[in-house]
Amino acid sequence: MKTSGARRIGLMTGGGDAPGLNGIIEATVRSLADQDIEIVGICDGFEGIFERRTVSLDSEKVLNAHTFAGTLLGSSNKGSTKGREAEFLKAFADLKLEGLIAAGGDGTFEGLSRVIQGLKLIGVPKTIDNDLQGTDVTFGFDTACAVVAEAVDALRATADAHRRVFVVEAMGRTTGWIALGGGLASYADAILVPERPISRDALKKHLIGLQALKRRGAMIVVGEGAHFENESPRIAFRVEGSMQAERFGGVSQDIARWIEKETGWEARNVVLGHLQRSRHPTTTDRFMTAAMGVEVGRMVQENDWGKAVVMRNGNIARAPLSDLMKPPRLIDGNHRWVKVAQSMGIFI
Ligand code: F6P
Repeated sequence: MKTSGARRIGLMTGGGDAPGLNGIIEATVRSLADQDIEIVGICDGFEGIFERRTVSLDSEKVLNAHTFAGTLLGSSNKGSTKGREAEFLKAFADLKLEGLIAAGGDGTFEGLSRVIQGLKLIGVPKTIDNDLQGTDVTFGFDTACAVVAEAVDALRATADAHRRVFVVEAMGRTTGWIALGGGLASYADAILVPERPISRDALKKHLIGLQALKRRGAMIVVGEGAHFENESPRIAFRVEGSMQAERFGGVSQDIARWIEKETGWEARNVVLGHLQRSRHPTTTDRFMTAAMGVEVGRMVQENDWGKAVVMRNGNIARAPLSDLMKPPRLIDGNHRWVKVAQSMGIFI
């Protein structure tokens, strides 16, 4: 039961949504149910702070939210605090909140780093891209990989029926974690990631090798930011006002046309797009968000501000917020998944 003197803590979700955000909200609110602490949801990320739009949360309101992708608070990957720092802090003060729990990605934390001096903050790293530094893995990533793997598994049927190569395009911006995770989980024939520019000669040789084995179909998973050697990633369009304005897209089509021309193997492409953000979270992601939400609740009770809740060596840990405010975490050539893929004869 909350009294009129309850501590009021804000909770916002920022940036592109990731399956598991609702799990963070539900676990945080439920873990504080018997405390005199009110969790106030901020609507639509930074926009909700600037426009002072909030919603009071309690255990009944968030019950079973964890089963759905998206975020019941809304989110935005457009708004920024840049040049509006004083306005942001004034709006936040008007909300009469003691501190802010922010679940977000690099854009959200870049925005918050501009106002951090005036804010009590707890950070929760979030992105399907899995490219945040400071944490071993982010929730939403496993679910995105599951979407890719399920798509590749399904598309094999039509690929084999028609003797075609399918090039399946995964999200991930400048990193290829989703392509790598989804491609490995589905034992794809080739995995193309931005961190490893594609050699035309090597990929052609690999495909011709598969043809020589009389393979009817072949499956390729490509990260949206992947590109041929000495070329640039394919930018589809820009979103003005977004902290990361470039939107990637189209590489799978380019590769499919190139394969037809170079190998004579008929090819089609499938862009999975936002389906990767919209599946109900996997159990792996649910375990993570339940444990992280509970840890956030503990941090609030202990007044342990200025930190992020992260995954380290399979455990939940607290880390400096600055750990999340670094450049994207790239796939290392020695990563165990790269090595496993290579040992299986997967082109990467
Ligand atoms: O960062 C998450 C992400 O889903 C990327 O993988 C993708 O490139 C981007 O967001 C898409 O953004 P939007 O939802 O604005 O199209």
